[in-house]
Amino acid sequence: MDHFQYNNGTLRCEGVAVSDIVAAHGTPLYIYSARTFQDHFGRLRDAFAELDPVICYSVKSCHNLHILRILKGSGSSFDIVSGGELSRVLEIGGDPSRVVFAGVGKTDDEIRRAIEVGIGWFNVESEQELMRIDRIASEVKKPATCALRVNPDVDPKTHRYTTTGKKETKFGVDVDRARRVFAEFGTSDYVSLSAIHIHIGSPVNTIDPYVQSTTRAVELIDALRNDGHEINALNIGGGFGAHYEGDEAPPAKDYAEAVIPILRDKSLRLLLEPGRSISANAGVLIGRTIFTKSGGDKQFLITDAAMTELIRPALYEAYHFTWPVSPGEDFEPENRRSDLSMAGCQLMDVVGPVCESGDFLAKNRMLPPMERGDLLAVFSAGAYAGVMGSRYNSRPLAAEVLVEGDTFRLIRRRETYDDMVGCERL
Ligand SMILES: Cc1ncc(COP(=O)(O)O)c(C=O)c1O
Repeated sequence: MDHFQYNNGTLRCEGVAVSDIVAAHGTPLYIYSARTFQDHFGRLRDAFAELDPVICYSVKSCHNLHILRILKGSGSSFDIVSGGELSRVLEIGGDPSRVVFAGVGKTDDEIRRAIEVGIGWFNVESEQELMRIDRIASEVKKPATCALRVNPDVDPKTHRYTTTGKKETKFGVDVDRARRVFAEFGTSDYVSLSAIHIHIGSPVNTIDPYVQSTTRAVELIDALRNDGHEINALNIGGGFGAHYEGDEAPPAKDYAEAVIPILRDKSLRLLLEPGRSISANAGVLIGRTIFTKSGGDKQFLITDAAMTELIRPALYEAYHFTWPVSPGEDFEPENRRSDLSMAGCQLMDVVGPVCESGDFLAKNRMLPPMERGDLLAVFSAGAYAGVMGSRYNSRPLAAEVLVEGDTFRLIRRRETYDDMVGCERL
């Protein structure tokens, strides 16, 4: 699952004690394991190898340049959703011709830049967007390859805020409308509308929604080909599960074994956009206990890590396993499930110092005794954690450290108060 394990009563990342990293870089702190990124990417790559897919790691899930470099080194390409993410990919020398550019609201400047650098595929979400791309491509006099994002109307059975492939969504167009879009916009001097893109939501911890959505996409492609359109690629999106409680995500090979037979012999280039299945388990967030206090019947553990470092619990009531960094041998956790309780544990809410009742990292958890100064680890915080970090309450963005074997290095320095006001000194 990952390379964060307890040994002799203390948490280690690969070959390094987490407490040593904190001694060097303080808290709140994100710690990433390079090997975990590589392992998860490698599993997807190997599972889908028969179809030789273009695997476009979803930059939005964890965008640090050093991590993008590691994934590029493993053979990954990238899925981007903004001009900012395009800059990151270009900065690490990523090949734009293998990059997919998604998002419902691309601006003219973003479209122009992407065409100029030779983006691989625009994932197009509406007729208006297609017309803008066509217009800008003809001004720039460079071709643009597009995949139409289609909603297969499949329920991924995940949180309503991260369900995207149903009919009622701001994303993509439905299947019937897709045929009309191809009929109307399928041919142009500069735009090649030659691919279909689907993304049903995330995290999707069952295989069946992928089988249903891929089947529907292939049926649509067959119909479009019958209508005379040349379709040469299918992007099945991301959303593959990650381990938050320990074992809930199906292995990459299970997704692949179900999807490959639907695509075999279809003469389609397969693209994937995995984010969290690669990054979620590759990071932890470390906070330090500031105070403990009671309020009514509740016990609170107040740490210097907050919703500003990990907003998923506040946003989606997401579960993240939370445990002391050095609980001692008696409290080495047996698993990462929400109902984990060991003799001597106490019911607590883990909260941050931000002035919001929604500022919590964990609620109603049985935790070992904790005192002021003790470190706490919030697991599976590699995806949608640091990237969603905010400066709310004028809290500087936290530092990030990458562990590679027995060594660790800073990959994002902690912001200073000066950094925070720098753009306002006008
Ligand atoms: C179009 C698209 N592709 C890929 C992803 C990555 O999802 P995940 O990180 O769950 O794999 C997302 C997530 O929002 C998305 O919207």
